[in-house]
Amino acid sequence: MKETSLQRLLFLTSLLSCSSDQARLTISPSRSQFFEGEFLSLICEDVNSSAGWTVRRNTTKGLSESGAGWGKPSDSSGSSWKISDTRKSDTGVYWCESREGATSNSINLTVTGGSVILQSPVLPVMEGDDLTLSCQSKPPSNLPAAFYKDGSLIRTESTGHMTLHHVSRSDEGLYRCSISSHGESPPSWISVTGKPSTTAVPTSTSPPDSPSPLLSALLPVVCLLVLVLLVSLVLLLRRHVRKSKAFKQACEVLNAGFC
Ligand SMILES: *[C@@H]1O[C@H](CO)[C@@H](O)[C@H](O)[C@H]1NC(C)=O
Repeated sequence: MKETSLQRLLFLTSLLSCSSDQARLTISPSRSQFFEGEFLSLICEDVNSSAGWTVRRNTTKGLSESGAGWGKPSDSSGSSWKISDTRKSDTGVYWCESREGATSNSINLTVTGGSVILQSPVLPVMEGDDLTLSCQSKPPSNLPAAFYKDGSLIRTESTGHMTLHHVSRSDEGLYRCSISSHGESPPSWISVTGKPSTTAVPTSTSPPDSPSPLLSALLPVVCLLVLVLLVSLVLLLRRHVRKSKAFKQACEVLNAGFC
């Protein structure tokens, strides 16, 4: 009950602003593991910059905001920040947050002092899609890599890349890789999300402040309808005003007493 009224409120708010204010945090380069000393950008996408968005993080040193000792604006857009020399202490959870407290998805970022990283998708993988994992050493090599899920070996690949075809929920888990002469990567959690049309997605998997998928899909259509309605209303009003003006003019010409 409470949720539907909240969704309705969100729907109305989005309708008024004619935008689905669904912020999304992405990382460039698109991976969640980094070596120390690398460069990365954190980008808040689909945000209204006037809402004062910023990137927040929760690390072992606690909660902090971009600009407070880490992260510099990377352009004038006000929605992208860079870390130009990653440190182990940058490891943590990152998300975008507006001045009003609206939040985006969050991303787990790991910076390792070791010499192996696992390259995996930052955002959840859709059920049925392919998932490609790469094991990268520093300096880069073409050595075979072993891939592990939840502590057990899945495969050893001579190229250092592994692709899982048509992933399902059971592929969700904690992945890691190793290159024998270099060492092991840190673990990364990979989540798999269901397709909304085939399986019911539990509402708890989406953040509480983002509208449901159906809602966001319908939003542009409803927005357009409302716009068309508004424009016709304005046109109708204008015609009405013009009509009454013409009527008045006719009256004056005829010099009728009832004008
Ligand atoms: C930050 O991380 C700590 C440790 O994992 C956790 O206990 C705490 O709830 C987190 N805070 C927020 C706001 O996410």
